[in-house]
Amino acid sequence: NLSVREGIEIVISLGMSIPPILTAVDAQAAVPATRVVGRSPKFAIPPILKMASSTLICETQPWKALKAHVEDIKKTHLRDLMGGSERCKSMMLEFDGLFLDYSRQCGNQDTMAKLLKLAEAAHLKEKIGKMYSGEHINSTEDRSVLHVALRAPRDAVMSSDGINVVPEVWKVLDKINEFSEKIRSGSWIGATGKALKDVVAVGIGGSFLGPLFVHTALQTDSEAVACAKGRQLRFLANVDPVDVVKSIAGLNPETTLVVVVSKTFTTAETMLNARTLREWISDALGPQAVAKHMVAVSTNLALVEQFGIDPNNAFAFWDWVGGRYSVCSAVGVLPLSLQYGFPLVEKFLKGASSIDKHFNSAPFEKNIPVLLGLLSVWNVSFLGYPARAILPYCQALEKFAPHIQQVSMESNGKGVSIDGVPLPFEAGEIDFGEPGTNGQHSFYQLIHQGRVIPCDFIGVVKSQQPVYLKGEVVSNHDELMSNFFAQPDALAYGKTAEQLLGEKVPQHLVLHKTFSGNRPSLSLLLPSLNAYNVGQLLAIYEHRVAVEGFVWGINSFDQWGVELGKSLASQVRKQLNKARTNGDPVVGFNYSTTTLLTKYLE
Ligand code: F6P
Repeated sequence: NLSVREGIEIVISLGMSIPPILTAVDAQAAVPATRVVGRSPKFAIPPILKMASSTLICETQPWKALKAHVEDIKKTHLRDLMGGSERCKSMMLEFDGLFLDYSRQCGNQDTMAKLLKLAEAAHLKEKIGKMYSGEHINSTEDRSVLHVALRAPRDAVMSSDGINVVPEVWKVLDKINEFSEKIRSGSWIGATGKALKDVVAVGIGGSFLGPLFVHTALQTDSEAVACAKGRQLRFLANVDPVDVVKSIAGLNPETTLVVVVSKTFTTAETMLNARTLREWISDALGPQAVAKHMVAVSTNLALVEQFGIDPNNAFAFWDWVGGRYSVCSAVGVLPLSLQYGFPLVEKFLKGASSIDKHFNSAPFEKNIPVLLGLLSVWNVSFLGYPARAILPYCQALEKFAPHIQQVSMESNGKGVSIDGVPLPFEAGEIDFGEPGTNGQHSFYQLIHQGRVIPCDFIGVVKSQQPVYLKGEVVSNHDELMSNFFAQPDALAYGKTAEQLLGEKVPQHLVLHKTFSGNRPSLSLLLPSLNAYNVGQLLAIYEHRVAVEGFVWGINSFDQWGVELGKSLASQVRKQLNKARTNGDPVVGFNYSTTTLLTKYLE
């Protein structure tokens, strides 16, 4: 501990410098010890387990060079890095209407050159190539990773296991187009002869978050509003009965279509919710009504049929589509086409496809997903910032961060390399976010003066819903965007104690009002938020996550980490069944779980 009273200048962890003139504080200022970023939690490897041997990315020269380089970068404040226009200019990029400015990242041209070398060492180009060519890069599940094929043009060729999958994709898209047209036009009628005007999509995780994000983004777009023609699309994800009740509140089973969306068709929550809505329909309209009021999206068509849904009313997708990457399959395309019509959804697919081409062909120094992915690796693995805030200044993107949470955290939250070697560094990042300016009145305090969290600011030039107040020059959208432009500079530059003293801020408040700055962000500007741009945004983030995983050397396409909780829940469920039916006591759990379960049953 050093006393500030001594009048010496100390620099605490965030580079906040305290001027000698500041003498009024009577407390001891703690100088935090250097933070140690390590792997946690560690697991013991039994000697019997044969360890794979492969070179980890952290053992390569470019990784070591970045480790050395980061020490230099840490000495330079972002407000100094932001000084000249040349560096800023080199950290801006335009593609297909999008404008990316990453000049507020803590780095310079040398950093970018070194990150590109890291990409080479990670064989990033080859790995992207393998993804597009359908190799089984999801090796732990022995599957291709071909979600890019879901939005490929009709004449494209993309193969998995020697079969061009694009015609299969378009067969399903054509079927969706035809079916959604029947529903929307009223030529498909329900059991009582009425047209189906509302849809409830039942699914969870990747079978829910992506479609919800896209639907929420389009819901206020004027073209989409015109296409929706007053129809309603709702989602039922949580097995919580509250969600069940909310999803069907005010709906009439006679005019409702239920779409059960599940890749496996075994997910406990989805199947229970599907059975609940099946009962809701059959109780109201008779069991034969299910055929007219329930359809499904799945890779497991046998289970769909077993559930009682006509296989003709099932929309397939394939095991080379990961759940969290499935929004461009029937998982998203069917509910969205029912709501907005297929032609609008096709625009969304085209936006994603534009980024797919860019990702696969643009040189890395001009490649948006590659640059974003490399910068994420820089922030997490070298600067030691484990989280990222996704901050769209656009209310229609309110479900974007929740979707990216799954895409990113389920993909890269891993502790071993793709070859099964425990990682000596942390991979993955913690994603969270809220639209601005709401977030500003919530967690931005921490972002400005607490922990350093790299931020993605996403802004839209043209609002979906311009509101002009008579006599006001600055519109609502201008007001919103004023904040979008201001926040990155507030984070980068901060505000020094000298500035505050110059403003005659009382001594005892100076440190409370000081902003250390030097907090990285990037700004992505979209021309507008229509179906096409939403597709672009989705694909940028999907590929960025893949880039991070490719560089860290992990398998971003499996999700073994969700299994343990699921199997323990099934043991609990069995016990609850026994207790409810026979009054059996709870057995087989530790003291804590037994007590909690007993209390619950009481
Ligand atoms: O939560 C794990 C998970 O397997 C996700 O990966 C997936 O998106 C979700 O469950 C839903 O799975 P399904 O589509 O098979 O019902």
